[in-house]
Amino acid sequence: MRRLILASFAAALCLAPGLAAAQEPIIIKFSHVVANDTPKGKGALRFKELAEKYTAGKVKIEVYPNSSLYKDKEEIEALQLGSVQMLAPSTAKFAPLGIKEFEALDLPWLFKDEATYDKAMKGPVGTWLFQKLESKGISGLAYWDNGFHMTSANRPLLVPADFQGLKIRISGSKIADRYFRDVGSIPQIMAFSEVYQALQTGVVDGCENTASNYLTQKFYEVQKDVTVSYHAHLQYAVIVNSKFWNGLPPDIRKQLDKAMEEATDYTNSIAVKENEDALAEIKKSGKTTLHYLTDDQRKAWQTAMRPTYAWAKGRVGQEVLDLVAKELYIKMN
Ligand code: LMR
Repeated sequence: MRRLILASFAAALCLAPGLAAAQEPIIIKFSHVVANDTPKGKGALRFKELAEKYTAGKVKIEVYPNSSLYKDKEEIEALQLGSVQMLAPSTAKFAPLGIKEFEALDLPWLFKDEATYDKAMKGPVGTWLFQKLESKGISGLAYWDNGFHMTSANRPLLVPADFQGLKIRISGSKIADRYFRDVGSIPQIMAFSEVYQALQTGVVDGCENTASNYLTQKFYEVQKDVTVSYHAHLQYAVIVNSKFWNGLPPDIRKQLDKAMEEATDYTNSIAVKENEDALAEIKKSGKTTLHYLTDDQRKAWQTAMRPTYAWAKGRVGQEVLDLVAKELYIKMN
């Protein structure tokens, strides 16, 4: 009897490594459109590192940066189809899903600083917006920060009249479309991966983005003048295919949630500094001229773009505007 028990114990020991080897890791494809050396790029890599560590290799995260797997619009379709499991698109890109409410976050000079932005997204606004995604088979896990937008062209953009007639690339939000129209320019939606060439060849005259994106996509090399306007905010929603996510074994999902929480804290803690460093590098390159608005110039932009606020109601609806206004203690109209 004792011999039998020992024999089966030994057999189990031999079998165990074989069993483990046969178990394939769960693959999570995480696609995004920016460079690795940006807040989002670094956040994705940090998530990979933590997720693989906490699940002891049971999950493998494949990060595809720089639109290497999908471009802007395609990636959201791919997520719904389950061809990719995780994304972190800018919140300006949800309109093709029929969800326009996120665009409220693109209102010009909405957040007076990073702390205000952070408070809003951690509170009811962030939660309410994520609920909008659920009916589309998408779940929101976190918001990642990438700071404030600058604007550029091949001429200094200092007063609203400087925008007159310029074709400006925007990423998707009709709110951005509207505020650029308010100052007389002609906005055009274009995938992120196509912007550099469009600027270089003159398909568009200008664009808006954060310093880390200007640097890593080399936009500053094909724009003579960059205004450090910080007129609107860029943030991402880290999203997953709900069916895939809810189907994960609960213990695995718990570890992934933990990894996401830590990766989110990390990303949001580096965003401001990453953009400051990127701006310093752009300045050092000498390849473009940086402009800073005077108080009067900023006020002139704000006045010229103000009609966007009244217009926004018809686009994003009163409910989200009221939520944001309440959270930020501001008046929308
Ligand atoms: C853009 O298209 O300009 C941005 O959404 C890119 C990004 O993801 O930072």
